[in-house]
Amino acid sequence: MKIGVLKETKKGEKRVAISPNIAKQLIAKGFEILIEEDAGSSSSFKNSDYTAIGAIVEKRGVVFKDSTILIKINPFDGEDLKLVDKGHILMSQLYHKSNAELIEAIAATGATAFSMDAMPRISRAQDMDVLSSQSNLAGYKAVIKGAYEMTKVFPLMMTAAGTITPSRVLIYGIGVAGLQAIATAKRLGAIVEATDIRLETKEQAESLGAKFITVDNEGEESEGGYAKEASEDYAQKQREAVNKSLFNADLVITTAMVPGRKSPVLISKEQVKQMKNGAVIIDLAAAQGGNCEVSKMNKTVIENGVKVIGTTIAPESVSTNASDMYSKNMYNFLMHLTEDNKFKWELEEEITDGTLIVHEGKIRKN
Ligand code: NAI
Repeated sequence: MKIGVLKETKKGEKRVAISPNIAKQLIAKGFEILIEEDAGSSSSFKNSDYTAIGAIVEKRGVVFKDSTILIKINPFDGEDLKLVDKGHILMSQLYHKSNAELIEAIAATGATAFSMDAMPRISRAQDMDVLSSQSNLAGYKAVIKGAYEMTKVFPLMMTAAGTITPSRVLIYGIGVAGLQAIATAKRLGAIVEATDIRLETKEQAESLGAKFITVDNEGEESEGGYAKEASEDYAQKQREAVNKSLFNADLVITTAMVPGRKSPVLISKEQVKQMKNGAVIIDLAAAQGGNCEVSKMNKTVIENGVKVIGTTIAPESVSTNASDMYSKNMYNFLMHLTEDNKFKWELEEEITDGTLIVHEGKIRKN
């Protein structure tokens, strides 16, 4: 079966959906790989890296025409769909819940489409979960960005010129990104504190060396590993529990999200005003409205001496690793759906059912 790997067309995107290393593994499993010219060039993968392992580098039109499976990272867009026909099986992130028009356009081609961001959160799907693999890198990069923006160093330094005390880092949301942010800030020598609405994250944060800030959250439960929207009562208790650490922090990283909803505002403008002069907030939830009241997506706002940076820290900023990890997720997904290089899926199986958004031109989920 032929797999076509397309060059991403989204502005600023540097990743590629299949790296040479994974292309090699797929070829060893009997697949043929057609990769669009220069698809990997922004992730440090040359065309010759692909041809060296037996993949075929082709022009865009040929990749569409000759492939059965077409793989991307970002949603197939209108230009792509002009080249899609009913025999194609598309695999990418589609964000189908907020992309109804796109899903209808895909269905109109008669093709079949899987959405990687719709992966169910179950143990056996962990190695196919692109949201996790990419969030992990975002957590790492948030700390690096914070370090760059701060006017202080992270570790304790005892020198002849005096002693530097370690920086204090506070992390809101201990999901995949938050956990990696804790690990990275600890490695750099900071004192790290963290909080989450899901109490089960306490042990995970502590195992990485962070102090967990407990909020009395009686009645707040999680659903399938995801947080539910917090009540106003919880938000008030959270402010009381966290304020002392917030006002002492040098770097704050916020990652709190609730699926399908605007991200909760956890730091108000009033709270920012009481923070230390020179402190930095990296708001990773900015694209969904932000965890800090003053943050703006892709902007740095200075509020009373505090730098508030609204960003998603796109994994494309570490595109080599991000491409490799996305590719490995895709490999595991393809292995799940195929046997001996042929599709063998059952519509009612949980991973297939969760990710199959359009089947032979019929919309299954919206
Ligand atoms: P996320 O990106 O949806 O949210 C980030 C964090 O923010 C979560 O830990 C959430 O509890 C927290 N949060 C939400 N509202 C909050 C509030 N008001 N105050 C404080 N914190 C708040 O979550 P993410 O990172 O995608 O993963 C959440 C959990 O799901 C993790 O424990 C992860 O291990 C698990 N997971 C399991 C997978 C699987 O089994 N296949 C795949 C991916 C994640």
